[in-house]
Amino acid sequence: MTSKPGLFISFEGGEGSGKSTQIRRLEKWFRDQGKDVVVTREPGGSPGAEEIRNLLLTGDPGRWDAVTEALLMFASRRDHVERTIRPALNDGKVVLCDRFADSSVAYQGYGHGLGAEYIRNLWKLAIGDFKPDLTLIFDLPIELGLERAGARFANVSAAEDRFERMGLEFHQRLRDGFREIASDEAERCTVIDASGDVEAVSARVIAAVQSRIAGQGA
Ligand code: TYD
Repeated sequence: MTSKPGLFISFEGGEGSGKSTQIRRLEKWFRDQGKDVVVTREPGGSPGAEEIRNLLLTGDPGRWDAVTEALLMFASRRDHVERTIRPALNDGKVVLCDRFADSSVAYQGYGHGLGAEYIRNLWKLAIGDFKPDLTLIFDLPIELGLERAGARFANVSAAEDRFERMGLEFHQRLRDGFREIASDEAERCTVIDASGDVEAVSARVIAAVQSRIAGQGA
């Protein structure tokens, strides 16, 4: 499929954008072609990073200041890359990751105002030039996303809702931030219109993946 060993695809977007459903569908799509697929997530994805996840996603919204939060994200990310992602790619597997470093650029950089450049410097320090082959950015009006996320959290009564409870302006900055990331790095990132039904979004995801595979094979 490609000349390099594995394929690393990250899924990004605001709350309630339907990433998780689409990851499962894309996993099946690759498996049906006989590929080995690893599905993982951030923060988390390795035993150490999952411990840090627990620190990050529970408790009061003001529990961590923005810099500490960003450092914890990159500490967990470094562990995840070294222990889970890189070994899988070296084995030639497809890695599908629910959020990666662009979430730090969007949430900590744009959302909490640390700035994209500050976060990209941390990115470089923590994991160097390592980045996804393809990043799918799920885009949705924020009211719709929060409505979907609200329904999900009402159902599971999850305790991991620290980020969902931040204000509307924060979520608007996030959406704008993700769109800016996509235009800054257009060759790596594809914006997916996440409105509409699951089938329609899935077709957009597969089209984006196929065009990336064709591009890499060329
Ligand atoms: P999760 O329950 O996995 O949410 P989602 O289904 O929306 O992906 O929680 C992850 C939360 O952590 C989410 O609100 C985004 C936030 N986050 C950051 O702020 N920075 C990051 O670098 C990452 C990876 C996640």
